[in-house]
Amino acid sequence: MKNDVPVARTQVQLAISDREDTPLYARIAQAVVDGLRAGRFKAGDALPGSRSLAEQLRVHRNTVVAAYRELEAEGWVFTTPGQGTRISEHLPVHFKAGKPAKTKGFAWEAIPDSWDTAPRGPGMLDLGPGMPDVQNIPVDAIARAFRRALQNRRGHLLSYTDPAGQPRLRGALSQWLSETRGLVQDPERYIVTRGSQHGMDLVARTLFRPGDRVAVEAYGYPPAWQAFRLAGAEPVPFPVDEEGLCVDVLEASKGKFAAIYVTPHHQYPTTVSLSAPRRLQLLAFARKHRIPILEDDYDHEFHYQGMPILPLASDDPTGQVIYFGTLSKVLAPGLRMGFVSAHPDFIAQLARLRRATDRQGDAPMEWAVAEMLEEGEIQRHVRKMRRLYEGRRAFLAERLRVEFGDELKFTLPTGGIGLWIHAPGIDVERWREKSLELGVHFRIARQYAFDGKPHPWVRFGFAAHEESGLEEAVRRLRKAAWNS
Ligand SMILES: Cc1ncc(COP(=O)(O)O)c(C=O)c1O
Repeated sequence: MKNDVPVARTQVQLAISDREDTPLYARIAQAVVDGLRAGRFKAGDALPGSRSLAEQLRVHRNTVVAAYRELEAEGWVFTTPGQGTRISEHLPVHFKAGKPAKTKGFAWEAIPDSWDTAPRGPGMLDLGPGMPDVQNIPVDAIARAFRRALQNRRGHLLSYTDPAGQPRLRGALSQWLSETRGLVQDPERYIVTRGSQHGMDLVARTLFRPGDRVAVEAYGYPPAWQAFRLAGAEPVPFPVDEEGLCVDVLEASKGKFAAIYVTPHHQYPTTVSLSAPRRLQLLAFARKHRIPILEDDYDHEFHYQGMPILPLASDDPTGQVIYFGTLSKVLAPGLRMGFVSAHPDFIAQLARLRRATDRQGDAPMEWAVAEMLEEGEIQRHVRKMRRLYEGRRAFLAERLRVEFGDELKFTLPTGGIGLWIHAPGIDVERWREKSLELGVHFRIARQYAFDGKPHPWVRFGFAAHEESGLEEAVRRLRKAAWNS
């Protein structure tokens, strides 16, 4: 609420807010700015003298003096000795927004979007993207660690810092991943990025030149292909079967490749793990031809049967592998926290490129995440979520079996946060449309297929929803399939 107080000398009203959490002098200053915005004052107008305004507002004169000082410091008014306080000719902001241009004043080459954005809205159950359960992330611990970072290290963390990331986080990541994934423990082998997508862009622009060819999986992750294309490279698809990438087809192609991009742990989107013989074959092929392997290990932690399979990067004496990781599944995609691990010379090159683009990461958040890793907070969260996700995986599989029987064929994946499902008798394109109408979003094989053609497969993510949400999603999916 605001009280309108007439101000005699200028013939205007000052509408002073009665917000008690804001000091009175600041509210008076704001009332003058509001008056300007409303067109009640214009440049050069005199404001009432501090004594007379204080009398009219029934406040102490010092309060008005403080308000005028604040306005002067911000550039709204100027005071001339003997002539009082006037509205400045050069206001610090323009109150009139510009008119939108009717034409585009220049041209650019259109970039096709690499993926659809999942529809949002009340009641929408999204089984589409590889979303973790962000409701369960340790928000209090993150907030405490972030506050500690700002309180204790403000001078350093709010400055321009190392484009490769906070040394403390590089150290903590390197220790964590040497313990859990068998990677070489050396902080110099890490650059912290804004999610792995950022890492892919940096790596692509460092490695690729126009016309280069990059081997990719024929069912895969379109945003990665997009990063390669934007760097001038041409992704070339190779088939994937129940043992992962068909390395023999890649070898037989005799193609010349600037890199091989793979998701060996839980192939995306089919969830299968690259078999041991194929891992050896792929590493040998890459070594022989000196081709970098871009290993995308986006959900390493979520492996439910046996031990997680160690990354290709853990068996890399010749420095062939450029390894991408992310905290998007471990914590939340919105935190944009990922990393690339590779030879220190290559990492230093990525850091130079990063300095020219994004400059550096979110240093306080990097510091906070480092502390959480050192204290085992993130590891505890992973253990908790792994159990939860394993339960949700079983629950969704059971509900689908009960509702769909033989209509849907799938095996329980050993890891990851999605089911890859064969739906040979269902028009999956229509099923998706009908499901969207009923408030369930999921992706179909066409959206992951390099050839962009329809294939009778779908992917359902199970991590983000509790059992009640999954149950409701399956109920709607059942109804949608009947109507398809
Ligand atoms: C194959 C693959 N790579 C990487 C990512 C992670 O991306 P980011 O770290 O940029 O959030 C995802 C997320 O869905 C993914 O599916």
